[in-house]
Amino acid sequence: MDDKAKSRQYFNHHSSTGLNKNGYWNHDYKATAKILQDHGVTNHIDIGCGNAAFLSYLHTVAPEIAIHGLDYSLEMVRRSRERLPNAEIVEGDAENMPLPDRSFDGVSCHMSIHHYPHPEKTLSEMNRILVKDGIVLINDLTGPDWLICLLNWSFKYMNTGDHEVYSRKEMEIMLRSAGFRDIRSRNLTPFSYVCFGVK
Ligand SMILES: C[S@@+](CC[C@H](N)C(=O)[O-])C[C@H]1O[C@@H](n2cnc3c(N)ncnc32)[C@H](O)[C@@H]1O
Repeated sequence: MDDKAKSRQYFNHHSSTGLNKNGYWNHDYKATAKILQDHGVTNHIDIGCGNAAFLSYLHTVAPEIAIHGLDYSLEMVRRSRERLPNAEIVEGDAENMPLPDRSFDGVSCHMSIHHYPHPEKTLSEMNRILVKDGIVLINDLTGPDWLICLLNWSFKYMNTGDHEVYSRKEMEIMLRSAGFRDIRSRNLTPFSYVCFGVK
Protein backbone atom coordinates (compact mmCIF):
# COMPACT_ATOMS: atom_id res chain seq x y z
CA MET A 1 0.00 0.00 0.00
CA ASP A 2 1.45 3.44 -0.90
CA ASP A 3 1.54 6.39 1.52
CA LYS A 4 -1.55 8.05 0.05
CA ALA A 5 -3.64 4.90 0.51
CA LYS A 6 -2.17 4.51 4.02
CA SER A 7 -3.15 8.12 4.89
CA ARG A 8 -6.68 7.60 3.64
CA GLN A 9 -7.09 4.36 5.58
CA TYR A 10 -5.52 5.77 8.75
CA PHE A 11 -7.60 8.97 8.80
CA ASN A 12 -10.80 7.13 7.90
CA HIS A 13 -10.29 4.99 11.00
CA HIS A 14 -8.94 7.68 13.32
CA SER A 15 -10.99 10.73 12.40
CA SER A 16 -12.37 11.09 15.90
CA THR A 17 -9.49 9.98 18.11
CA GLY A 18 -6.67 11.86 19.82
CA LEU A 19 -5.37 14.91 17.97
CA ASN A 20 -7.69 14.24 15.03
CA LYS A 21 -10.69 15.03 17.18
CA ASN A 22 -9.93 18.68 17.82
CA GLY A 23 -7.24 19.52 15.29
CA TYR A 24 -3.51 19.14 15.43
CA TRP A 25 -1.72 22.38 16.12
CA ASN A 26 -4.50 24.73 17.17
CA HIS A 27 -2.01 27.16 18.67
CA ASP A 28 -0.73 27.91 15.12
CA TYR A 29 -4.15 28.84 13.76
CA LYS A 30 -4.15 32.31 15.32
CA ALA A 31 -0.98 33.25 13.41
CA THR A 32 -1.97 31.60 10.12
CA ALA A 33 -5.49 33.10 10.16
CA LYS A 34 -4.00 36.56 10.80
CA ILE A 35 -1.68 36.22 7.77
CA LEU A 36 -4.69 35.36 5.58
CA GLN A 37 -6.80 38.19 7.02
CA ASP A 38 -3.97 40.70 6.56
CA HIS A 39 -3.75 39.64 2.92
CA GLY A 40 -7.47 40.38 2.53
CA VAL A 41 -8.63 36.86 1.69
CA THR A 42 -12.35 36.61 0.87
CA ASN A 43 -12.74 33.08 -0.54
CA HIS A 44 -10.51 30.51 1.11
CA ILE A 45 -9.80 26.77 0.88
CA ASP A 46 -7.88 24.59 3.37
CA ILE A 47 -6.26 21.51 1.79
CA GLY A 48 -6.01 18.35 3.92
CA CYS A 49 -8.54 20.10 6.15
CA GLY A 50 -9.06 17.09 8.46
CA ASN A 51 -12.14 17.67 10.58
CA ALA A 52 -12.16 21.39 9.75
CA ALA A 53 -10.41 22.54 12.92
CA PHE A 54 -8.64 25.41 11.13
CA LEU A 55 -11.69 26.34 9.04
CA SER A 56 -13.82 26.49 12.19
CA TYR A 57 -11.30 28.81 13.82
CA LEU A 58 -11.11 31.00 10.71
CA HIS A 59 -14.88 31.19 10.58
CA THR A 60 -15.00 32.30 14.22
CA VAL A 61 -12.49 35.13 13.79
CA ALA A 62 -13.48 36.15 10.24
CA PRO A 63 -17.06 35.04 9.47
CA GLU A 64 -17.07 37.22 6.34
CA ILE A 65 -14.58 34.87 4.61
CA ALA A 66 -16.22 32.14 2.48
CA ILE A 67 -14.63 28.82 3.49
CA HIS A 68 -13.99 25.58 1.64
CA GLY A 69 -12.04 22.42 2.43
CA LEU A 70 -10.61 19.38 0.69
CA ASP A 71 -9.52 16.08 2.23
CA TYR A 72 -8.65 12.62 0.90
CA SER A 73 -10.41 10.86 3.76
CA LEU A 74 -14.16 10.55 3.29
CA GLU A 75 -14.63 10.24 7.03
CA MET A 76 -12.80 13.54 7.60
CA VAL A 77 -14.94 15.13 4.89
CA ARG A 78 -18.09 13.84 6.60
CA ARG A 79 -17.01 15.24 9.97
CA SER A 80 -16.10 18.60 8.42
CA ARG A 81 -19.47 18.85 6.72
CA GLU A 82 -21.19 18.07 10.01
CA ARG A 83 -19.14 20.69 11.84
CA LEU A 84 -19.50 23.42 9.20
CA PRO A 85 -22.75 22.82 7.31
CA ASN A 86 -22.39 26.09 5.38
CA ALA A 87 -18.88 25.40 4.12
CA GLU A 88 -18.17 23.55 0.89
CA ILE A 89 -16.06 20.49 1.69
CA VAL A 90 -14.94 18.15 -1.08
CA GLU A 91 -13.32 14.75 -1.08
CA GLY A 92 -10.19 14.77 -3.20
CA ASP A 93 -6.47 14.29 -3.58
CA ALA A 94 -4.26 17.31 -2.85
CA GLU A 95 -2.01 16.22 -5.71
CA ASN A 96 -4.83 16.27 -8.26
CA MET A 97 -7.59 18.55 -6.99
CA PRO A 98 -11.12 18.27 -8.40
CA LEU A 99 -11.38 22.07 -8.43
CA PRO A 100 -11.62 24.64 -11.23
CA ASP A 101 -8.79 27.04 -12.14
CA ARG A 102 -8.59 30.45 -10.44
CA SER A 103 -11.41 29.84 -7.95
CA PHE A 104 -9.94 31.07 -4.62
CA ASP A 105 -7.92 34.02 -3.34
CA GLY A 106 -6.47 32.02 -0.42
CA VAL A 107 -5.26 28.44 -0.05
CA SER A 108 -3.71 26.88 3.04
CA CYS A 109 -2.44 23.50 4.20
CA HIS A 110 -2.04 22.74 7.92
CA MET A 111 0.05 19.75 9.05
CA SER A 112 -0.85 17.76 5.97
CA ILE A 113 1.76 18.36 3.25
CA HIS A 114 4.21 15.87 4.81
CA HIS A 115 1.68 13.16 3.85
CA TYR A 116 1.99 13.90 0.14
CA PRO A 117 4.47 11.80 -1.90
CA HIS A 118 4.68 14.59 -4.54
CA PRO A 119 4.28 17.93 -2.74
CA GLU A 120 5.46 19.78 -5.87
CA LYS A 121 2.27 18.56 -7.58
CA THR A 122 0.18 19.97 -4.73
CA LEU A 123 1.94 23.35 -4.87
CA SER A 124 1.38 23.49 -8.63
CA GLU A 125 -2.30 22.62 -8.07
CA MET A 126 -2.52 25.37 -5.43
CA ASN A 127 -1.12 27.81 -7.97
CA ARG A 128 -3.68 26.65 -10.54
CA ILE A 129 -6.72 27.13 -8.27
CA LEU A 130 -5.61 30.58 -7.03
CA VAL A 131 -6.48 33.84 -8.71
CA LYS A 132 -3.62 36.24 -9.48
CA ASP A 133 -2.30 37.86 -6.27
CA GLY A 134 -3.92 35.09 -4.19
CA ILE A 135 -2.01 33.82 -1.16
CA VAL A 136 -0.66 30.32 -0.48
CA LEU A 137 0.17 29.31 3.10
CA ILE A 138 1.87 26.12 4.29
CA ASN A 139 2.02 25.20 7.99
CA ASP A 140 4.04 22.13 8.83
CA LEU A 141 6.44 20.42 11.20
CA THR A 142 9.98 21.53 11.91
CA GLY A 143 12.64 20.83 14.53
CA PRO A 144 16.32 20.11 14.93
CA ASP A 145 17.87 18.36 11.91
CA TRP A 146 18.39 15.12 13.85
CA LEU A 147 14.70 14.99 14.79
CA ILE A 148 13.53 15.56 11.22
CA CYS A 149 15.95 12.86 10.00
CA LEU A 150 14.62 10.49 12.63
CA LEU A 151 11.00 11.28 11.74
CA ASN A 152 11.61 10.84 8.02
CA TRP A 153 13.37 7.54 8.64
CA SER A 154 10.59 6.30 10.94
CA PHE A 155 7.75 7.08 8.51
CA LYS A 156 8.33 3.94 6.45
CA TYR A 157 7.61 1.81 9.51
CA MET A 158 4.36 3.62 10.37
CA ASN A 159 0.81 3.06 9.17
CA THR A 160 -0.12 6.75 9.22
CA GLY A 161 0.84 7.61 5.63
CA ASP A 162 3.33 10.28 6.74
CA HIS A 163 5.80 10.60 3.86
CA GLU A 164 8.46 13.30 4.35
CA VAL A 165 8.94 16.47 6.39
CA TYR A 166 10.69 19.31 4.52
CA SER A 167 12.63 22.15 6.06
CA ARG A 168 11.41 25.74 5.88
CA LYS A 169 14.14 26.52 3.34
CA GLU A 170 13.15 23.54 1.18
CA MET A 171 9.51 24.65 1.31
CA GLU A 172 10.49 28.19 0.23
CA ILE A 173 12.37 26.75 -2.75
CA MET A 174 9.44 24.48 -3.67
CA LEU A 175 7.00 27.42 -3.51
CA ARG A 176 9.28 29.50 -5.75
CA SER A 177 9.55 26.62 -8.24
CA ALA A 178 5.75 26.35 -8.28
CA GLY A 179 5.56 29.97 -9.46
CA PHE A 180 4.94 31.89 -6.24
CA ARG A 181 6.65 35.17 -5.33
CA ASP A 182 7.18 37.32 -2.19
CA ILE A 183 7.82 34.17 -0.17
CA ARG A 184 8.30 34.52 3.57
CA SER A 185 8.55 32.04 6.42
CA ARG A 186 9.03 31.85 10.16
CA ASN A 187 8.82 29.37 12.98
CA LEU A 188 5.58 29.55 14.96
CA THR A 189 6.77 27.17 17.70
CA PRO A 190 9.98 25.12 18.05
CA PHE A 191 8.16 22.36 16.16
CA SER A 192 6.12 24.17 13.53
CA TYR A 193 6.63 26.76 10.80
CA VAL A 194 4.59 28.80 8.38
CA CYS A 195 5.72 29.58 4.86
CA PHE A 196 3.63 31.78 2.57
CA GLY A 197 3.76 33.52 -0.78
CA VAL A 198 1.72 35.17 -3.50
CA LYS A 199 0.71 34.00 -6.98
C1 LIG B 1 -2.35 15.30 10.39
S1 LIG B 1 -3.95 15.54 9.69
C2 LIG B 1 -4.13 17.32 9.79
C3 LIG B 1 -5.57 17.73 9.66
C4 LIG B 1 -5.85 19.23 9.77
N1 LIG B 1 -5.25 19.97 8.68
C5 LIG B 1 -5.42 19.78 11.12
O1 LIG B 1 -4.56 20.69 11.15
O2 LIG B 1 -5.96 19.33 12.13
C6 LIG B 1 -3.57 15.27 7.95
C7 LIG B 1 -4.79 15.35 7.04
O3 LIG B 1 -4.33 15.31 5.68
C8 LIG B 1 -5.22 14.49 4.93
N2 LIG B 1 -4.52 13.99 3.74
C9 LIG B 1 -3.50 13.11 3.70
N3 LIG B 1 -3.13 12.88 2.42
C10 LIG B 1 -3.94 13.65 1.63
C11 LIG B 1 -4.03 13.87 0.23
N4 LIG B 1 -3.24 13.25 -0.64
N5 LIG B 1 -4.96 14.76 -0.21
C12 LIG B 1 -5.78 15.41 0.66
N6 LIG B 1 -5.73 15.22 2.00
C13 LIG B 1 -4.82 14.36 2.48
C14 LIG B 1 -5.62 13.40 5.91
O4 LIG B 1 -6.80 12.73 5.51
C15 LIG B 1 -5.76 14.19 7.21
O5 LIG B 1 -7.07 14.68 7.37
